[in-house]
Amino acid sequence: EKGGYPHFMLKEIFEQPKAVRDTVQIHLNKDGSVTFPDLGWTKECFENIDNILITACGTAYHAGLVAKHYIERFVKIPVSVEIASEYRYSKPLTTNRTLCIVVSQSGETIDTLEALKEAKKHGAKSLAVTNSIGSSIAREADHVVYTLAGPEIAVASTKAYTTQLVALLMLALYMAQLRGTISMDLIHKITDGLKDLPKQIEKVLKEKDHMAEVADRLIKAHDIFYLGRSIDYAIAMEGALKLKEVSYIHAESYAAGELKHGTLALITADTPVIAVATQDAVSSKMYSNIQEVKARGAEVLGIGYEDDKELGKYTTETVRIPRVDFFIAPILSVIPMQLLAYYTSVKRGNDVDKPRNLAKSVTVE
Ligand code: F6R
Repeated sequence: EKGGYPHFMLKEIFEQPKAVRDTVQIHLNKDGSVTFPDLGWTKECFENIDNILITACGTAYHAGLVAKHYIERFVKIPVSVEIASEYRYSKPLTTNRTLCIVVSQSGETIDTLEALKEAKKHGAKSLAVTNSIGSSIAREADHVVYTLAGPEIAVASTKAYTTQLVALLMLALYMAQLRGTISMDLIHKITDGLKDLPKQIEKVLKEKDHMAEVADRLIKAHDIFYLGRSIDYAIAMEGALKLKEVSYIHAESYAAGELKHGTLALITADTPVIAVATQDAVSSKMYSNIQEVKARGAEVLGIGYEDDKELGKYTTETVRIPRVDFFIAPILSVIPMQLLAYYTSVKRGNDVDKPRNLAKSVTVE
């Protein structure tokens, strides 16, 4: 049942090329434009939307943080991203001019389901991005977009997350296409990139043994910092969560520019740093932040493009992803972090598929 892999988590990490290919394919037209025929949306639907609320838990919340960048950039509608267990008790300002998007692999997370009901109570229109056909969340939402990740057994989410990113990116392109806020050239550029993505994921998966080696050096750490800016910050949050939940090592993700507002005091030779640097607009700032932590003795693993000649000058070591559009990069840069979490957990002797105190589907509040 594990298809020759020692654990479901590793199997599911390696299923990402297929999961992503399947999720991309159903939303692509032959002419390279994007389609979500089941939504039945028109340009006019957006005349009644002032803001978008994304609400979810855990890894799905992290996918929402990336989607905010996608939607605001392409669709030009302000997006707020809220943790479901916070949103539902927050006396929200949601109205009938809000589109609420919930993201849930299982479709059964109680806080996400209740957040969705709360948003609907305020009149919001709703859409669920889920991996589970017929789930409670799929039934509650006005519209559903399915990720085609296939069943995810390991508690730590991997292929569900990357397919959420794909679905949300394509949904953002679709909304922008309807509203006329994006050029066809840019749509084609990104959809071409999405068609190539499974191949690029295969390339990044070749870093498996490299990440196993790096894990050898992380297993003794008490604290590990994950840094990024812009979309890379959202990816750093996911990388840190993955490590924490399966390795039980404390990790903290930080917006790299925030370090000097207190956290830098915690960086020493004993705190390894994982630095994600795929967002060109902020890469020079990111290099400075890497130098700051390196100057405090930290070992830095940089995650960046294979043609980035600068990154290696400041890091202790790098892991490379192919050069892709910077909106697509997060779907690749998270993979070395998934592998790192997996190997760190296995090398510490943990039950990587069933980490302590966690359930695959959280139906308690
Ligand atoms: C982390 C993880 C959890 C889930 C969260 C939401 O690897 O799996 O953080 O993402 O419990 O679950 P779903 O997506 O099923 O609502």
